[in-house]
Amino acid sequence: MYKDSVWQAKMRIKIDFNNMMHDSIGEKGIELSELEAMSPLLKSASLRMAENRCLMKWRDLPYTQDAVIEEVLAASNEFGEFENFVVLGIGGSALGPIAVQHALNHPYYNILKGSVHNRPRLFVEDNVDPEHMAALFDVLDLEKTVFNVVTKSGSTSETIAQLLIVASMLKDRIGDNCLSRHLIATTDEKKGSLIKIAKQYGIKTFYIPEGVGGRFSVLCPVGLLPAAICGIDINEMLAGAAYMDKLCSTPDIWHNPAYMFALMQVGALKRGCNISVMMPYADSLRFFADWYAQLWAESLGKRFDNENNEVFKGQTPVKALGVTDQHSQVQLYAEGPFDKVVTFIRVERYRKELAIPEGFADYPEISYLGGHSLNELIHAEQTATEYALAKSGHMNNTIIIPEINTFTIGELIYLFEVATAFAGELLNINAFDQPGVEEGKNATYALLGKPGFEAKKKELDAMPPRNERYIV
Ligand code: PA5
Repeated sequence: MYKDSVWQAKMRIKIDFNNMMHDSIGEKGIELSELEAMSPLLKSASLRMAENRCLMKWRDLPYTQDAVIEEVLAASNEFGEFENFVVLGIGGSALGPIAVQHALNHPYYNILKGSVHNRPRLFVEDNVDPEHMAALFDVLDLEKTVFNVVTKSGSTSETIAQLLIVASMLKDRIGDNCLSRHLIATTDEKKGSLIKIAKQYGIKTFYIPEGVGGRFSVLCPVGLLPAAICGIDINEMLAGAAYMDKLCSTPDIWHNPAYMFALMQVGALKRGCNISVMMPYADSLRFFADWYAQLWAESLGKRFDNENNEVFKGQTPVKALGVTDQHSQVQLYAEGPFDKVVTFIRVERYRKELAIPEGFADYPEISYLGGHSLNELIHAEQTATEYALAKSGHMNNTIIIPEINTFTIGELIYLFEVATAFAGELLNINAFDQPGVEEGKNATYALLGKPGFEAKKKELDAMPPRNERYIV
C-alpha cells in the first residue's frame, strides 16, 4: 500500500499533557505562568539543539543510510536462510532490537517459524548469566545459527566474553574456518578489537556511525539488521522517524512533541517528581518501556553539569504495563507520594479486535461485559487510571499512538531520542556520555586482568576490606 502524506498524518503520534497542568489536577500541577517564566531557558535550549544538530549524528539516520539499507537487506536475504539469528550485545546494543521485534512481530514469532513465517528465529543474549547463556545452546543447532556480535566500543567485557564462548564452540563443532559464515560484527569502523578480528577472519561487518552512541543506535545497523532479518520493513521505520524529525524540528515548544514531552518531565522533576513511569497499554510495547528506561536513565543521570558543577541530576525511569500493573503498582501511583510522573501510552486501534461474548445472563454483575470487546475494556481501563491519578492530583500525560506499526514505531523512537536530548539541554548536562557506566566497565577490566588497567586494579585492591556483615 502506498503510504501518502494523508496516511502519514493519520499516523501522527500525539501527546496529551492536560493532566500535568494546574488547571486539571490542582496544586501539584504546572502553572502556565511557570512555563512562561521558563521561556528564556527554552529558547536557549532549542537554540543549542539547532546549533548542535550536526553533532547528533543519530538525527541524520533517517536520511543518510541508502547504501547501508541496501547492504542490510542483502544480508537479511543471505543470512535469512539460517534457522536462528542471535544478537550478542548489551545495553544500547540489545534493548533497541528487542523493543522493535516485540513491538512489530507476532508475540510468539519464534514458535511460529515454519508455519506462519520462514524467517530466522531471533534471540538477544544481553547478559552473562552462565545459566541463561548455557541454556541458549540447548535450543540452538549451531550449524543453523548466525551470531551478530554488537558492540560499539568493540571491547565490552560481557559481549566479548560471549564472542569467545561462541567462537570456540563454533570452531569445535563445525570447524576452524566457519567463523566468517556464522558470525557478523556490528561495531565501530575504526576503534576497538572487534573490527580487527572481523577483518582478520573475513567476518561480515556493519558499522555503527561516529556520533551515534549505543542508546541512540536503534535506527542504524544495530537495530536495522535484526529487524530486517525478522521481516520488518526498515524503510518504513525510518520514514516514521523522518516524519517525527520534521515535527521535532520547530523551536516552537507548543508544536514540537519531543520538546513538550521533555519540558513536562523536567517540569515535573523540578516539582519533586524524581521518578518517570512509562506505562504502555500494549504488551507489544513492554520492551519499549525497557528501551526508554535505558535512554532516559543513562542519558540524564549525571553527576556534573556542563560547567562541571556537581549536580547529581536525573529522573529514575520505572517500567510498568497497562493493565497488568494496575493490579500491582497503580495503588502507589494514585495514593502514594507525589514523586512520580506517569506517562501512559495509549493505542487507539489495536491490530486485533476481540469481542467479549454474551453469557451468564442470570448474573448481571458479570454479564454487563458481554457485547463489549477487549479493545473497549483496555481503553476504559487506561481512561479510568488516568482519571484516578488526575483526581488524586498526580501528574500524568498520555502519548497517543493511532496504531502500532513500523511507521509509528519509527516515530516513537525518534520522539523519545529528541526528547532525551532536549531534556539534557534543559538540565544543562551532557546527555550523550556515560562516565558512571565506563567506571564500572573499567573496574571489570581491571578485576579480570585486562592489560592497561593495572592502576585501576591497584585502586580496587586498596579498597578497605569488607566487613563481615552477613546473616547466615
Ligand atoms: O548507551 C550506551 O552507550 C551503553 O549502554 C552501551 O550501549 C553499552 O554499554 C554497550 O556498549 P558497547 O556497545 O560498546 O558494547
